[in-house]
Amino acid sequence: MRSFSGIAAMLLAAAALALQPSAATAADPDDRPIALPAPQMEGGMPLMETLSLRQSTRAFSDRDLDEQMLANLLWAAFGINRPETADHTAPSWRGSKETDIYVARGDGVWLYDPQENTLTKVMEDDIREETGRQPFTDNAPAVLIFVADLARMAEAPREDQQLYAQVDAAFVSQNVYLFAASEGLGTVVLGNVDKAALSEIMDLGEDQLLTFTQPIGFPE
Ligand SMILES: Cc1cc2nc3c(=O)[nH]c(=O)nc-3n(C[C@H](O)[C@H](O)[C@H](O)COP(=O)(O)O)c2cc1C
Repeated sequence: MRSFSGIAAMLLAAAALALQPSAATAADPDDRPIALPAPQMEGGMPLMETLSLRQSTRAFSDRDLDEQMLANLLWAAFGINRPETADHTAPSWRGSKETDIYVARGDGVWLYDPQENTLTKVMEDDIREETGRQPFTDNAPAVLIFVADLARMAEAPREDQQLYAQVDAAFVSQNVYLFAASEGLGTVVLGNVDKAALSEIMDLGEDQLLTFTQPIGFPE
């Protein structure tokens, strides 16, 4: 039979566990990357018309983006447009290509691989609510989360890495804005994010800097 102090210790341990921030559920390590459809690199609106429509949108319908739209969006954001050199649709400091795009959706969090044109599930949870302090991220069909891997900028001092990572993410964000304008989607880049909390939920490492998030979907 357990002693009173043994039972008390167990209860205390259980209470301590319950008080910890809810740990996110990692995806099944056996999850295989999902191939995206080949991005359609032709069409869209002429550039000057697209620029005249670019704007921030803060209300989204919950209509989903289909797979082709998602593939096109991710390619426009930071896909590879010169396969011979593996260069991207947005510039990056010394071509360090440090921006990783995570996609938060109702069915979990996915990591885009521009080289393979795939999405790999990295979390089971719906974390859209945590991707901004404003309520409209909750029902946007997709929230892009830009995370810089500073280890890919090893030659720069840490503070320069942080600056270049923000700048590089901003180029990706503008690509998303232009894609959205061209396709009749709405989007807004977000700096008003509890980045420490979101980084913890996503279990990001020391070299991973969360720069911005960007919900995107059909305007309400
Ligand atoms: C670095 C940066 C951070 C921003 N963060 C937020 C944000 O957290 N929430 C928000 O609603 N808009 C945010 N915005 C969007 C701006 O408010 C918006 O671009 C500005 O009001 C101009 O509107 P427009 O994009 O429609 O031209 C941000 C924009 C930038 C460039």
